[in-house]
Amino acid sequence: MRKELVFLEEQGVSPALLSGVEDFRKEYEGKQQIENRLAHPEIPFYGKEILEMAIAGILKGENLLLAGPKATGKNILGENLAYIFGRPMYNVSFHVNTDSGDLIGTDTFKNNEVQLRQGVITQCAKNGGFGILDEINMAKNDAVSVLHATLDYRRSIDIPGYERIDLHPAARFIGTMNYGYAGTKELNEALVSRFLVIDMPAQNQETLEFILKRLFPRLTEEAKEQFIGLFLDLQLKAKNGEISTKSLDLRGLLAALRVIEAGLSPLAAVQMGITNKTFDIFEKEIVRDVVMTRIPEDWTREQVYRG
Ligand SMILES: Nc1ncnc2c1ncn2[C@@H]1O[C@H](COP(=O)(O)OP(=O)(O)OP(=O)(O)O)[C@@H](O)[C@H]1O
Ligand SMILES: [Mg+2]
Repeated sequence: MRKELVFLEEQGVSPALLSGVEDFRKEYEGKQQIENRLAHPEIPFYGKEILEMAIAGILKGENLLLAGPKATGKNILGENLAYIFGRPMYNVSFHVNTDSGDLIGTDTFKNNEVQLRQGVITQCAKNGGFGILDEINMAKNDAVSVLHATLDYRRSIDIPGYERIDLHPAARFIGTMNYGYAGTKELNEALVSRFLVIDMPAQNQETLEFILKRLFPRLTEEAKEQFIGLFLDLQLKAKNGEISTKSLDLRGLLAALRVIEAGLSPLAAVQMGITNKTFDIFEKEIVRDVVMTRIPEDWTREQVYRG
């Protein structure tokens, strides 16, 4: 088994899907590979069911839309998929001013003539890349509608005034969306219909253990238990409507753990990573109480990291 696939086997991903990935890689390996665009995810994606859905979809030529709250691993899954399939990765961050030119290309004046400056989507399409359409629901629907022909069976890009470009057979698109954020828009049905949608699950004890072990191998058992407990306590409070999801921030928790490694006291680190993420004084009070029960004030780096 090649090294990129070992972590899938370890999680029990179906052998049929794994051999599908092998075949895909053999088919496209070495062709138009762009070395500096190959993905090297900082952490393997953990979650067998999600991996199986995503791999099966990609094997069958589908595009994926990863939907879920913040820090549920949407981007890390996208990177893992590019890595698993050995394809170059192209990232496009969508925002309110994203327009069709950014995506497919614009005219530019070069060597005394008008030429096409290829957009990211066009480069990705030609090179058989995996295009991550990040926060796709931040863009205006009419900007994204230029992608309709790219994302459906036509697999092509029509740039006004230029040749039509057909997608490389290995090209795939993976959208991410985080609903509920200020500024996000409803995606229109025609667009959603061009993706298979994966609902990203919330973190649980098992995924958190995996992530913390992987990213912080020297974390003490005691600290691991308390940090996971802290996250799950906050998740429960958010679920019950006692607090918003502002302080329920895995990214903030991981950042706090890094800052402790640098030498800051655990409580101060958690304030920056978790408590201060909410700006509502009543909510902050509730979060602070939860933190108090988990992270003793007198903890230092020695309680959190071994050796
Ligand atoms: N299932 C998972 N497997 C491995 N790591 C995970 C997983 N879920 C979350 N993570 C960790 O959480 C961090 C944040 O994940 P990521 O950036 O992919 O989230 P996201 O869903 O794109 O969030 P946002 O909507 O805020 O952009 C990752 O760097 C990774 O360490
Ligand atoms: Mg993201």
